[in-house]
Amino acid sequence: MDVVILLGAPGAGKGTQAPLLADRLGIPVVATGDLFRAAVRDGTPLGLEARRFMDAGRLVPDDITVRLLLERLGRPDAADGVILDGFPRTGVQAKALDEALAERDSAVCAAVLVEVPEEELVRRMSGRWICRAAGHPYHEVSSPPRVPGICDLDGSELYQRTDDRPDTIRARLAQQLGSLDEVLEHYRGSGVLRDVDGLRPIMDVATAVADAVVAAGLAPRTGTTGGAAR
Ligand code: AP5
Ligand code: MG
Repeated sequence: MDVVILLGAPGAGKGTQAPLLADRLGIPVVATGDLFRAAVRDGTPLGLEARRFMDAGRLVPDDITVRLLLERLGRPDAADGVILDGFPRTGVQAKALDEALAERDSAVCAAVLVEVPEEELVRRMSGRWICRAAGHPYHEVSSPPRVPGICDLDGSELYQRTDDRPDTIRARLAQQLGSLDEVLEHYRGSGVLRDVDGLRPIMDVATAVADAVVAAGLAPRTGTTGGAAR
């Protein structure tokens, strides 16, 4: 099972890059933020619980998040590998992932950090719109949709995330950057961490991410997923 991790602060561009890399590698994206947002939308007990933390800009507790991720990794479409967007977010989550992969005689192939300075993160999140159907991200200045309010890829309506309000953006950055450092330390220790400059245009970042993954020994598969699986 090939597991590639996209790491970065809130708003760094993980969700923008993940489907582009998925198209290249032919494995699906698993994004814990998208899984939580789907649970919130469906009004499940998990969604009600997660929402309290998301709206406060805090991380959802590790036990809930690890259970959700492992359940998703057990589905058939993840058998060959996945690109993880937004997981792991703590040292505990990183260790739980290592253990689950070791049980399958596997390990994380590459962890790619998309690096963006904090003032740019605020600009990116406050101008972001995402689509209802699949969470495809747009930005009102740097990457607007062709038709205002409509997703170029699937035609669904665009909306602004409740956690992209200015006070919640500040809370997310204040509360989550410390645990990102913990995760970076974990992968620096295991020798799979690579970083790319996330300030460049989207397609340049995509090339740098793909180069980092190829340098880690992963080759593109034939056929694509379309990058839409979540
Ligand atoms: P999640 O959905 O994962 O949010 P996040 O990590 O805060 O990251 P974002 O989705 O905000 O940013 P992104 O890096 O995907 O950026 P994007 O590509 O959209 O998590 C949400 C919440 O769920 C968390 O706060 C937490 O509560 C909970 N949660 C999720 N996972 C968890 C876990 N593992 N443990 C515990 N809790 C968890 O890009 C941002 C904007 O920038 C867009 O407008 C885009 O168009 C634009 N942009 C992207 N790239 C570029 C570029 N190169 N140049 C110019 N603009 C760009
Ligand atoms: Mg995202």
